[in-house]
Amino acid sequence: MNQKLKRIRQIFIALILIAAVEGFSSCEKYSYAPPAVDPNQAWHFQTDIQPIFSSNCVTCHNGVKQFPDLRDGKSYLALTKGGFVTLPGETSRLYHQMSTNSDHIPRSTDTEKLKVLYWIRQGALNN
Ligand code: HEC
Repeated sequence: MNQKLKRIRQIFIALILIAAVEGFSSCEKYSYAPPAVDPNQAWHFQTDIQPIFSSNCVTCHNGVKQFPDLRDGKSYLALTKGGFVTLPGETSRLYHQMSTNSDHIPRSTDTEKLKVLYWIRQGALNN
């Protein structure tokens, strides 16, 4: 094969390798992007919010102490009567506790925090 063709082939292979590496790393970046939570979707207390409490919060929030009882069937009243879900959602005691209290931040994912925020913004309905 003449030298010129060989050179072209080398450059071609190099380009394919670069494309493969780029493709791979961009895939990796994509997989770390946080999942989107749609603020305009209707968020429901029974199916979206209570499961967050039931799996992450009820070991402590079980009605024994003064802070809100987050058990299924108790939580809605505890949160609304206790003044934990007020507008604007960002400053509500519930969202504020989940997103700024260092003990509480790791107890729910970013996705779960956003669902709670959007549910409060949509009127904190018992839906
Ligand atoms: C390891 C025990 C524990 C777990 C798990 C826990 N909490 Fe708490 N929570 C506490 C304690 C203790 C307090 C009261 C002291 C404080 O405010 O940190 C409290 C207080 C609160 C308050 C009241 C804040 C206020 O303004 O008075 C809210 C709301 C709350 N927690 C929500 C949650 C939610 C939502 C979860 C689950 C995502 C959760 N907690 C998980 C122990 C816990």
